[in-house]
Amino acid sequence: MEIAVASAPGKVILFGEHAVVYGRPALAAPVAQVCASAVVEAGEPGSGLILDAMDLRERVTLACAGHPLAEIARLALAELGMSEPDWRVGISSTIPIASGMGSGAAVSAALARAIATAAGRPFSAETVSALVYEVERLHHGTPSGVDNTVIAYGQPVYFKRGEAPQPFAIGAPLMLAIGDTGIASPTKVAVGDVRAGWQRETARYEALFDAVAEIVESARQAIAAGRVGELGPLMNQNHGLLREMGVSSPELDRLVEAARAAGAGGAKLSGGGRGGNMIALVTRETAATVANALSAAGARRVIVTDIG
Ligand code: MEV
Repeated sequence: MEIAVASAPGKVILFGEHAVVYGRPALAAPVAQVCASAVVEAGEPGSGLILDAMDLRERVTLACAGHPLAEIARLALAELGMSEPDWRVGISSTIPIASGMGSGAAVSAALARAIATAAGRPFSAETVSALVYEVERLHHGTPSGVDNTVIAYGQPVYFKRGEAPQPFAIGAPLMLAIGDTGIASPTKVAVGDVRAGWQRETARYEALFDAVAEIVESARQAIAAGRVGELGPLMNQNHGLLREMGVSSPELDRLVEAARAAGAGGAKLSGGGRGGNMIALVTRETAATVANALSAAGARRVIVTDIG
């Protein structure tokens, strides 16, 4: 018998990835076309909590210490002040793994939400975000908190570490084509490499992060005022700075170039980089051409989505 169902969307970073780890702002938005979901059913008496990650063919219990699913379940039960229930939770996700779209954070958010809903005490977005951040911290080193925030709130956010997230106003709809290189790239590795670069050449990296922060502020104003045309050049500049940080790759650069050549207003990598996804600014008129160009340039999957 089904007791509760919950889901959480994927996400893209529009502007500001990596610099956001160092206290600069970022703009991120949910992507509802892909999502993680969790379904809670009553289990056999005495079964305890069984977490079935259906796509990965993995069965996890609370005894699996250190496993991200066990960790988020444990945190959710602790937050509710509950002992282990006899439930089976089926977990599935359409968000590509290790692609910069927040698959791990979305799975954690869906599971925490499903447990709280099944307990009859749904969590606020703030609580979901805080719990997911704990798990991200265990598995990703030094996350800024932007991924858990945008996924838990489910709306576009202006995010700065240590400050309350601010949902941002969208003056005119934005359309993005999201191209997946198909190369799995754990965020932790790219974030660790940027840290090593920053330790070696602190002044250069700080200057790159400052330049990214200016782009984020300009983009926020352009988005609020509906000046969508200004965003393409800002995306191109942000991509250039990410290349200088060393987090792009030939595959990402190829997709970015292909999108621009096919008429996108601008394009950049999105998320941790190295592999994973890039985003291109498109319109109703250019979306199909850009999506086809991305596929021809090697994208494994292209999602066209409206932001806002
Ligand atoms: C990953 O989606 C965004 C990064 O800036 C890492 C983080 O903010 O934790 C690369």
